[in-house]
Amino acid sequence: MKHDCGIFLQWALPIMKMRWAGFRKVHKQVCKRIRQRMKLLGLQDFEAYKQWLITHDSEWNKLDNMCRITISRFYRDWAVFDYLKDDILQRLAQQAVYKKRTLRCWSAGCASGEEPYTLSLIWYFVLKEKFPELDFQIIATDVDAKLLDRAKTGCYTYGSLKGLPKQWLPEAFTKTENDYCIHSSFGKNIEWLKQDIRKSFPEGRFDLLLCRNLVATYFEPELQVKIFNQMKSALRPGGFLVLGCHEKLPNGLDGFSTTVEKLNMYQMIDNKNDQV
Ligand SMILES: C[S@@+](CC[C@H](N)C(=O)[O-])C[C@H]1O[C@@H](n2cnc3c(N)ncnc32)[C@H](O)[C@@H]1O
Repeated sequence: MKHDCGIFLQWALPIMKMRWAGFRKVHKQVCKRIRQRMKLLGLQDFEAYKQWLITHDSEWNKLDNMCRITISRFYRDWAVFDYLKDDILQRLAQQAVYKKRTLRCWSAGCASGEEPYTLSLIWYFVLKEKFPELDFQIIATDVDAKLLDRAKTGCYTYGSLKGLPKQWLPEAFTKTENDYCIHSSFGKNIEWLKQDIRKSFPEGRFDLLLCRNLVATYFEPELQVKIFNQMKSALRPGGFLVLGCHEKLPNGLDGFSTTVEKLNMYQMIDNKNDQV
């Protein structure tokens, strides 16, 4: 039987604990990679690739690597970053300064750095003046080493930065022939880590965790519950978890209260009444 890529993915994704619904609209880039792989292996169609997987265990890891959607941009979903900038980060900064500790943020699935650099820009242009003594730290993790290298280089097309407040661009970026490159000073408070979120988390606890357009979109519900439960120990009491605009926490998960429902922001319930 001849398989098309969609049918193939609907068979393969659940085996990898991923969900087809998350990939439905964006599966073309995954299919393109799989077709290249099939060509390399000399396989004619998706049915042949399915049989290859069934008989070659090590191929699953390769398929897993091909099933990554890498789309991102600066200040993605402006209402979310406006709210972080004008409300949540202000409250967290005030508390961190009062308690004389570092304000720690984690961008999980940070792609080419657009999200952690957005936080760094908010710190520089908004928080720094109001809270000069604030120590602001960002941990940015992704499973893809190539994306992390791109992030460290920090050069982007205009399309990925056009959501940023326009007045920030001249001071934060240098325009080259084809790209806009962020000044290295904006990476000084970012630590880049290659990590698979299904296997490891960065050390310590965070005030703000951005896990957007990754776990709740691409992973099956059971795996989502496991990861979000683990995230509770990665958050400080009263800390915030922010999901993507089209995502929600899976059923069967307690310990979070909704802060701003339509922006998918959740706060860790603090039993010691220590919320910010
Ligand atoms: C769609 S992008 C989202 C980027 C950013 N968070 C945003 O919302 O714009 C998903 C990112 O998650 C990363 N990713 C996929 N699977 C991962 C995993 N198991 N562990 C860590 N990162 C992963 C991908 O490499 C990609 O950079």
